[in-house]
Amino acid sequence: MLLPKEIREGLSTKLFGMKDIHYLNEIDSTNTRAKELAVKGAPEGTLVVSEKQTKGKGRKGRSWFSPPHEGIYASLILRPTISPREAPRITMLTAVVVAKALLSLTQLKVTIKWPNDILVNGKKLAGILTEIRGETDTIDYIVVGLGLNVNTPRFPDDIRDKATSIFIETGSPFPRARIIREYLYWYEKYYGLFNANGFGPILRLWKRLSRIIGHQIIVDMTDAKYSGEVEDIDENGVLILKDHNGETHRIISGDVILI
Ligand code: BTN
Repeated sequence: MLLPKEIREGLSTKLFGMKDIHYLNEIDSTNTRAKELAVKGAPEGTLVVSEKQTKGKGRKGRSWFSPPHEGIYASLILRPTISPREAPRITMLTAVVVAKALLSLTQLKVTIKWPNDILVNGKKLAGILTEIRGETDTIDYIVVGLGLNVNTPRFPDDIRDKATSIFIETGSPFPRARIIREYLYWYEKYYGLFNANGFGPILRLWKRLSRIIGHQIIVDMTDAKYSGEVEDIDENGVLILKDHNGETHRIISGDVILI
């Protein structure tokens, strides 16, 4: 069980997870519940966790496999004083936080795949879905949803080749509460760093953890495909790709295949 009491045991944060943890046995989507709470004024640092999701949402309208008691399905409410344009930075920050938490708890070779998947051995261990409400230049709230496959022994056929879990990678079950605690710890630390020093230090960490720069890739967008070398990731998370004709492309979203 992922009871708030268990999550809080030994948690050393000031805000994140200390005040409000909404624990559910079952929900359609923790992101949807977190958005409802955010609209009603829930403070920054509020966390929604569920043992199971019946309509777990992934990026691009995909669904997120959310079997009971096996994974982490968690949504955090943030109220950063940035413009909506800069919201992708929060998703990148989250990827850094997830990678750091996993690297400090396990021996797994965790990497970040642009824009924000967490991979181990080329398979997806965790995904992030950020949802935002704001005006032209202010954010009312951001809900950051994390799906992390912890003790899943096997996946459905359609995702078996692409997905993995800590259990599959290590052969042993891992306590989910420990991961959430570590996640909240690194989140508070790096979110604080972001608010105090801007995005520069986070972007540097992201680049180090992603190891994508200099790599040959194919990017599949819905309407086009490019291949070439990754030159850089800019401060808005845009991927800068130099194709084989030397032409530069700025890619905002797409699926990356490393070649
Ligand atoms: C992705 O497609 O990579 C993003 C997956 C995000 C899944 C998490 S699980 C908790 C939260 N609630 C949801 O409905 N989705 C996110």
